[in-house]
Amino acid sequence: MPDQRLEELRAEAAGLIAGAPGTPEIEELRVRFLGRKAELTGVLRSIGELPPERRGPVGQAANAVRQELERLLTERHATLEAAELEIRLVADRIDVTLPGDPAQEVGSLHLITQTRREIEDVFVGLGFEVLEGPEVEFDYYNFTALNTPPGHPARTLQDTFYFSGDVLLRTHTSPMQIRMMESREPPLYGIFPGKVYRRDSDATHTPMFHQIEGLAVDEHITLADLQGVLLEFARAIFGAEREVRLRPHYFPFTEPSVEVDVSCFNCGGTGSLPDGRRDPLCKGSGWIEILGSGMVDPNVFGFVGYDPEQIQGFAFGMGVERIAMLKHGVPDLRMFFENDVRFLEQFGR
Ligand code: DAH
Repeated sequence: MPDQRLEELRAEAAGLIAGAPGTPEIEELRVRFLGRKAELTGVLRSIGELPPERRGPVGQAANAVRQELERLLTERHATLEAAELEIRLVADRIDVTLPGDPAQEVGSLHLITQTRREIEDVFVGLGFEVLEGPEVEFDYYNFTALNTPPGHPARTLQDTFYFSGDVLLRTHTSPMQIRMMESREPPLYGIFPGKVYRRDSDATHTPMFHQIEGLAVDEHITLADLQGVLLEFARAIFGAEREVRLRPHYFPFTEPSVEVDVSCFNCGGTGSLPDGRRDPLCKGSGWIEILGSGMVDPNVFGFVGYDPEQIQGFAFGMGVERIAMLKHGVPDLRMFFENDVRFLEQFGR
């Protein structure tokens, strides 16, 4: 092949490459000028057939052209590819921070979540930590170590769902008392929110509900500390005018045990409404029960190796649904779980 033909090929290819509009055209040109059936490839392949003195010069010239074309193809490909990417990026640009069209409601936290957080905030303000524990629990933590041995009548009050002999869905958040005491040394101030499960279902019971447990363990803790903490809590949640009262009760893991009432925020504790009718919320008593509580039973300290002569503690447990129902006048527990948006959005914030 005369050098002139090589130069023609080079010039033609270079012109076409420079003018190629996109990367597909570049690939076509690569096949056309450097592919298996290309003229230049044929030249390179048949060098051996040339007279010996022509092989060197022709080979060199043809290779130089091939290398230049390869370089031009690669450069142009890169340029076109970058431009094509830029065009795609502009075309595909979606601003995910724009509101939908029409704008969508963002929704709000479920009333149970709001209430749980509100309660947590009160206790965090009093120096308690928030800890969470397992919902699938050992019988030992749920009952035995809480001074409720096998056969104890209190077990039947909290019938639950069993996985196997000693693994169950926890019936209360009280097992976290044991877990916190086992894993730490006093002083301990903790609250334990979470889901609990019981084999119950009617207007005032659902098989799953939420509790918040509290535990304080330290030296010189008395029932007065318990009462002071619960008064703070009651006032933060139900209003600054509230009072609390402790009524004797029984729980296996506290001694003494109490049920705690808050003075009724509907009638101001009088039991009657301004028009003289009996207040239906507190049933005329002026008091509303909000939780169970007491001083940690020395037997419970025995299970975690604490010396009841050295330290004391109080514990309490409340139902989050109950607090939310009281505070917001929700008449039926099941409304929390039906998830009717008309109900939920009343508590949007
Ligand atoms: N665990 C009890 C229940 O679910 C509530 C309770 C009562 C928790 C007294 C306590 C307590 O910590 O001291 O019925």
